[in-house]
Amino acid sequence: MSREQLLQMARNNIAHGDAGTIPQAKEILKVPACNYYDEGRWKLEMKNIFNRMPLMLAMSAEIRKPGDYKAMEASGIPIIIVRDKNGQVRAFVNMCSHRGAQLMEEGSGNTHRFTCPYHAWSYNTEGDLIGVLAPKDFGEFDKTENGLEELPCLEKAGLVWVTPNPHSTLDINLFLSGYDQLLENFGFEDWYLFGTQRVDGPNWKIAYDGYMDLYHLPILHKNTFGPDFPNQAIYYSWGPHQRVSGPMKGMAKMLGPDESQWPTELLVAGVWTIFPHVSIAGFDGGGRAVMISQLFPGETPGTSYTVQNYLMEKEPSSEKLIRDAQNQFEFLRYVVQEEDYATGLKQQKALESGAKEYVMFGKNEEGGHNFHRWVDHIIDTKDEDLSKLFMTG
Ligand code: FES
Ligand SMILES: [Fe+2]
Repeated sequence: MSREQLLQMARNNIAHGDAGTIPQAKEILKVPACNYYDEGRWKLEMKNIFNRMPLMLAMSAEIRKPGDYKAMEASGIPIIIVRDKNGQVRAFVNMCSHRGAQLMEEGSGNTHRFTCPYHAWSYNTEGDLIGVLAPKDFGEFDKTENGLEELPCLEKAGLVWVTPNPHSTLDINLFLSGYDQLLENFGFEDWYLFGTQRVDGPNWKIAYDGYMDLYHLPILHKNTFGPDFPNQAIYYSWGPHQRVSGPMKGMAKMLGPDESQWPTELLVAGVWTIFPHVSIAGFDGGGRAVMISQLFPGETPGTSYTVQNYLMEKEPSSEKLIRDAQNQFEFLRYVVQEEDYATGLKQQKALESGAKEYVMFGKNEEGGHNFHRWVDHIIDTKDEDLSKLFMTG
């Protein structure tokens, strides 16, 4: 855990709050408008980002016990994520070694083997091929070489990263750039998943821009949670991953002189984004909770969908707390669907008119600068240079 880093950020946020300042980027950034709709650009992003970067595809809370699995699709690849009998989380392409049928339907459950619905070949949770139908008739072959195709996978801080490309050589730890140590301060490994829901949205970068944007809060969200929110932001980054929080005016006095007593809950306030597709933000409906939003590009440049997960520190223990959690979760669906993404979908349409050459990110929107710079860098980086990019930032 990196409590010291949290404290440093808090001191910095307090200093800025008291001085009435924010750190600013040197220049206003112009991003070509076509980056949000050009088909060629989008295909490059899919190939070089979504099929090459580790994606945060599951929470430990979803696959807590050995045999717990989750079958899903990401970047067009059917994937099974499973906790094996030794407790290690693994990911496989959801594809039988016989003739390629998908083994499991999308969804989750608990099993000690994956059996193919086509000819009943079966695999254990370590991916080994353990059963072949009518083996004498089928003929001899080396079963040990025909297990499931394993994908790079890492469980850290109660979250599970999977690279949806079996040939990837990018070390997930390197990609995380130490950010997982900050996320460990939440203690997600013991949290409880209350619910998930899906919201459709615009181009994935428009959606991602929004999660790092505090500038819009009192304006776009004036009818919901926004009117009392400050619109200033302070950004911190670890590789391509960023935390955004607000200046903390007068907080030193409130928190007291003993920093060891400053509550972690307060120190982790704000939004934590995980490149290229996740945002984590704190709420308190039904008890301490976060919404973890997993963004996935849709079938076209102008579409995406977001899986919202309401992860709670403790399972709500009364009818009232369950109702409060439900209300909070529904409120978050409403805000994202009817305010953020409704605006984003119209923004998408306007951009697609081609009438403007570029959009702008102000000196106060440094998160957008960092994000778009990383998108550009990764797109331009060859496979063999990818690790170097994460070593040097
Ligand atoms: S395709 Fe799976 S057993 Fe035949
Ligand atoms: Fe918003």
